[in-house]
Amino acid sequence: MTGPLGAGKSTLARALIRALTGPDEDVPSPTFTLVQFYEGPDLSVAHFDLYRLTSPDEAYEIGLDEALETGAAIIEWPERLEGQLPPDRLDIDIRLAGDGRSADLTPHGAWKGREFEFPA
Ligand SMILES: Nc1ncnc2c1ncn2[C@@H]1O[C@H](COP(=O)(O)OP(=O)(O)O)[C@@H](O)[C@H]1O
Ligand SMILES: [Mg+2]
Repeated sequence: MTGPLGAGKSTLARALIRALTGPDEDVPSPTFTLVQFYEGPDLSVAHFDLYRLTSPDEAYEIGLDEALETGAAIIEWPERLEGQLPPDRLDIDIRLAGDGRSADLTPHGAWKGREFEFPA
């Protein structure tokens, strides 16, 4: 997920995590821990906030590879990976749009050709 501060990345991440785990799941911002792990009934999910990452290697040290092998990863500030992005991914670029938000979704690798269903 990309977008300026205040775009709504963490809000969308929290909604995704609650959809995958449960509506009462506590979803703290991983600003200082860089990552939080969750177990859903169907999928484990890791929430990364890489704003304070010091080097791309550090992301792999804190479990990005393992997260992608065993489940899903939601990544805020992927720019900090300096292009070392997972090849199979959906880029979500969020921006302010009046009182709401709009987003561009760009699939890469295995995400290409997937069909999406949006609630009305
Ligand atoms: N879709 C949305 N519509 C309206 N307000 C939103 C939306 N998404 C986020 N916000 C509000 O915008 C502010 C910043 O959101 P946040 O998720 O912390 O942004 P980011 O993580 O991109 O910095 C919060 O006050 C949040 O409630
Ligand atoms: Mg945030």
